[in-house]
Amino acid sequence: AIERTLSIIKPDAVGKNVIGEIYSRFEKAGLSIVAAKMVQLDNDSAGGFYAEHKERGFFNDLIAFMTSGPVMVQVLEGEGAVAKNRELMGATNPAEADAGTIRADFAKSIDANAVHGSDSTESAAREVAYFFSDAEICPRG
Ligand code: CMP
Repeated sequence: AIERTLSIIKPDAVGKNVIGEIYSRFEKAGLSIVAAKMVQLDNDSAGGFYAEHKERGFFNDLIAFMTSGPVMVQVLEGEGAVAKNRELMGATNPAEADAGTIRADFAKSIDANAVHGSDSTESAAREVAYFFSDAEICPRG
């Protein structure tokens, strides 16, 4: 099915100037960018996005990292977009990510892991709506 998923290029990858290289991987895999914006998250906006992790030991480090510089947020659309994006990203911990994945190629730690992607169609719906109104999404069909 044609799905949408939320993708975030994190501060480490924005700082390495590889937004275009990562976009290119999405597009070569058949995913279309149907909405995008660059934002500087603050504690409230990052904390709200990652609310499900609030009780985890890594939460404070995660919020500190995600607010350390601008992020690029986009909605990817395409056949099986949620799983396809997760394949392109590789494992959460870059040390365990398959060769050729975004995290293997651009990330250096589990915190600075280059990208975020929704883990299910349910979280994708919530995460897309967290950043974008319907009017900001431009379906490609
Ligand atoms: P992300 O997909 O953005 O979702 C939550 C983030 O928390 C995750 O990527 C990692 O960057 C970060 N994180 C740090 N430590 C852990 C951990 N032990 N397990 C899962 N995520 C972690």
